[in-house]
Amino acid sequence: MLSWDEFDTEERPVPAEPPVQKKIAEPAPAKAVAPKPAPDRPAESKSGNDGAITHDAVDAADAAANDRALEQAINELENLDVQAGIEELEGTAARVKVDDKRMINCRADLNQLVPFKYDWAWQKYLDGCANHWMPQEVNMNADIALWKSESGLTPDERLIVKRSLGFFSTADSLVANNLVLAIYRLITNPECRQYILRQAFEEAIHTHAYQYCIESLGMDEGEIFNMYHEIPSVAKKAAWGLKYTQEISDPTFKTGTVEADQQMLSNLVAFYCCLEGIFFYCGFTQILSMGRRNKMTGTSEQFQYILRDESMHLNFGIDMINQIKLENPHLWTDSMKEQVTQMILQATQLEIEYARDTMPRGVLGMNAAMMEEYLQFIANRRLVQIGLPEQFKGVKNPFPWMSEIMDLRKEKNFFETRVTEYKTGGALNWD
Ligand SMILES: [Fe+2]
Ligand SMILES: [Fe+2]
Repeated sequence: MLSWDEFDTEERPVPAEPPVQKKIAEPAPAKAVAPKPAPDRPAESKSGNDGAITHDAVDAADAAANDRALEQAINELENLDVQAGIEELEGTAARVKVDDKRMINCRADLNQLVPFKYDWAWQKYLDGCANHWMPQEVNMNADIALWKSESGLTPDERLIVKRSLGFFSTADSLVANNLVLAIYRLITNPECRQYILRQAFEEAIHTHAYQYCIESLGMDEGEIFNMYHEIPSVAKKAAWGLKYTQEISDPTFKTGTVEADQQMLSNLVAFYCCLEGIFFYCGFTQILSMGRRNKMTGTSEQFQYILRDESMHLNFGIDMINQIKLENPHLWTDSMKEQVTQMILQATQLEIEYARDTMPRGVLGMNAAMMEEYLQFIANRRLVQIGLPEQFKGVKNPFPWMSEIMDLRKEKNFFETRVTEYKTGGALNWD
């Protein structure tokens, strides 16, 4: 591990023999930094004149070698073909115009952030940065005491905490991997990429938050982090999402054909609408319900911050999907609409199965049947948000307090936490 001691060696007095100290204190005038001894440097003589002669000879050899290395570096730079290097980047021959920009299959220079075309993407990047938070800032003491107390939580409540941490601790890694290994290179717009980078960091913070809870509560890490292999209701959700990453993360995969562009669109629906937009909602509701009952308040607070981030991820994904549809109406065929509707129905069904698995009985003022209606209500919203008709007629939201938690414009939260203090900049858009 690095320590400050390794950085201040030149500042400290060197309690060595006089000849060695003198050499370090008086470097050769041609060099700014005293040469570092080579590993195979001959042992330094500690005796009078012999030692000084050995140092001089070695220093001269070092200086000559350094001069040759610098000369080589300068020669390489003189031979650098600037034009060839830049022209290899697609679309960099001209200044970018707003009309050149496109969500996918864009040929304009992706290294020029401005002029902006998609202000919503840049605004979300700014909002995400304005709402930065870190897991260690949340006090976990009450949770630790409650979790360790034998009578603190019922077995059903403990099951919910473990399943939630089990699912989310790996799910956010799946989302982050999908972003950086699959989506990033295929979204050909720099302001969207800027938000994707911010989102990827937020996913890292979320995984950190779950790990922080797991560690604070002294849980069996192997058991929790392996639930996505070992617990069927968790494993099915992970496997369902992974399938869509695998389709487009192949380095040879390219957009540009109708089929490939539709695959890319399916990935966005799978991850933004289904994974982040449906799979997270049973666990979030359960943990936040616990917090409302003054139980596991630290964990609930972590989830509240995460839910706020996730709402923005979801909205960003929906904006991207709708923009791609707008620019490429030929992709939004009847069969594509049918496929996307099927995906949302499948995701809803998997989340209902997860709700039944984690709530074999009523708990925390809710039960699996109420959660089923809530998930159908959420599924309807996702469908409408991307321009498809509702599939579950007449369902209502049995947990209106969830909308209140997500609606941070009310400048209020259930736990008197620091959420509002983090809002240092731009207003959030939760629509
Ligand atoms: Fe996340
Ligand atoms: Fe997310």
